[in-house]
Amino acid sequence: MSPFVASWGIIGCGWISSMFVKNLCVVRSDDTDVAHSIAAVGSRDKSKAEAFIRENCPNGGPAQSNGLVEANPVACGSYQDVYENAKVNIIYIGTLNNTHYTEAKAALEAGKNVLVEKPACLNVAEWDSLVSIAKQRGLFLMEGVWTRFLPLVYELQDQLFNKKVIGDIKNVTANFSMAFYNIVPDSHRNFALESAGGAMFDLGPYIVLCAILALYHNPANERSKPENVRGVMSKARTGVDLSTTILMDFPKLEANAVLTTSFAYCSPKDERCIITGTKGEIVLNDGLSRLTQMTIKQIDQEPAPRVLKWKENVVVSRPLPGFGLMFEADAVARSLRDGKLENPRMPHEESRMVLKIFDQVRKQNEYVLPDGIEKIKSQ
Ligand SMILES: NC(=O)c1ccc[n+]([C@@H]2O[C@H](COP(=O)([O-])OP(=O)(O)OC[C@H]3O[C@@H](n4cnc5c(N)ncnc54)[C@H](OP(=O)(O)O)[C@@H]3O)[C@@H](O)[C@H]2O)c1
Repeated sequence: MSPFVASWGIIGCGWISSMFVKNLCVVRSDDTDVAHSIAAVGSRDKSKAEAFIRENCPNGGPAQSNGLVEANPVACGSYQDVYENAKVNIIYIGTLNNTHYTEAKAALEAGKNVLVEKPACLNVAEWDSLVSIAKQRGLFLMEGVWTRFLPLVYELQDQLFNKKVIGDIKNVTANFSMAFYNIVPDSHRNFALESAGGAMFDLGPYIVLCAILALYHNPANERSKPENVRGVMSKARTGVDLSTTILMDFPKLEANAVLTTSFAYCSPKDERCIITGTKGEIVLNDGLSRLTQMTIKQIDQEPAPRVLKWKENVVVSRPLPGFGLMFEADAVARSLRDGKLENPRMPHEESRMVLKIFDQVRKQNEYVLPDGIEKIKSQ
């Protein structure tokens, strides 16, 4: 049987769009049930879209190079031209944070399914509006938190919840930070208030994801939302958050999370997230977005002794082809094929939960965006 073809329309020709398209173009032998084509690429400047196609996908995706789809990608000088392209059945939005709501809304209103980069929107109210439009029109909508779809992340949850290698999980401590301050100009998207910059909107989705994967998804938590969410922000001179720490509690598990992100320094690569349980810990050794390796450390004696003795570490690796964005793309394609409006691995409600945390932390720390940046304000 022919694979289902996801025909992508790409919005914005920046860095992450180029990574996404390069990953769509990776041909994999196991990729039999879905295939990808790149139908159209949109930029505010048509020559940029043409150069993007030349550099990243001159022959389109695998569905084009193997003859399943005949047409090559077309370059468009406006995003609207991509939304209106009849060959496109799914839009990928890789533009700045402050544009996610407007572009996703325009795509949905043109009748297209949408995968929008993280953060899904700037607040809960914007996201609720998108979900409502998507549901009314029977369209698929998902936030692109690609990490959820990586092989190591499925393995991590199997070790935590099925094999229970570290016992009952009691704490998640994560720090995902990158040195940008005083290195890139203050006008960079990460430091501009107008682009809804700051560490929390940029890297925050990944630190909160650590708590979601180990605590919120924990079967014993029964999908209870985190409580006592508290945040502390240190502001950069441009007004965005330079460093943010978020605390949260999961009362059903008697467990909590301490989550930090910063643009002021690089967090150590070998211990960016530590998940601690009653029988040991799992350390995530990679950048928290592109997870490929974890170390399982189990306590050697029971009951827990005063002096901990450890068994030999077990290192589990799941290397990725390319950057790793093809796993979320495949998941989106399968959702479209199956007529689903959301993907169970990245449901609307979990994007909403993260945005609610961000709303609370911004409010606690008076992180106010200039008028007009948020298209709808949260209450
Ligand atoms: N999933 C991930 O791992 C990951 C990694 C990095 C970034 N991201 C997310 O992806 C988004 C884009 O990040 P990026 O690093 O790719 O940024 P980037 O390289 O600066 O690209 C952003 C693109 O947005 C478009 N754009 C629309 N309005 C704009 C405006 N007023 N000013 C400037 N550009 C505008 C531009 O496309 P045209 O000029 O072609 O119109 C630009 O190329 C962000 O929301 C970020 O959170 C995700």
